[in-house]
Amino acid sequence: MTSPDEFTFESAGVLWRCFGLSTMDRLPSLADSMESLVRSARGAKTRAYAPYSGFRVGSAAIMDGEKFTGCNVENASYGGTLCAERTAIASAIASGRRKLDLIAISTDATSGAPIEQRSPCGLCRQVMGEFAGPETLVLLDAGDDEDGRLRGEVIAFDTLFPWRFRLG
Ligand code: THU
Repeated sequence: MTSPDEFTFESAGVLWRCFGLSTMDRLPSLADSMESLVRSARGAKTRAYAPYSGFRVGSAAIMDGEKFTGCNVENASYGGTLCAERTAIASAIASGRRKLDLIAISTDATSGAPIEQRSPCGLCRQVMGEFAGPETLVLLDAGDDEDGRLRGEVIAFDTLFPWRFRLG
């Protein structure tokens, strides 16, 4: 069953499943940048360094109004691996940005793969939370449908990760 804060939104042929948004009012004005952000995440994924898992991930974040991209950067130690979301956020922070407006994630999971294979790991959620606000939205690439139309999820950050750790 669909709850009041779970609905679908279509714009310019892109179909979004939305979770945790109290209203769809913001979506029409954001729709173009949401699609473009997912496409940027797909582009960033092509630059992933993932020789160990073979699982490429790309991310694109809008922080203080500017777009930054990142990809996973694996390491032979395994533990030294950096996730795509955190490399995108680190790039924005290193450029002096602080507020996370929107972040898109695209993985190598196939179209129609379960959401768990396409959504950010817990560590990335905690890092996003450091810079997220009540308006922050997370976009997941769900691939293209059989007609080549992009599909994705839009999730309010607080719904994705309600109780992040805070110091003090
Ligand atoms: N990975 C990400 O880049 N982001 C996530 O949120 C989950 C996992 C990467 C890490 C590793 O390079 C590969 O996906 C397999 O875990």
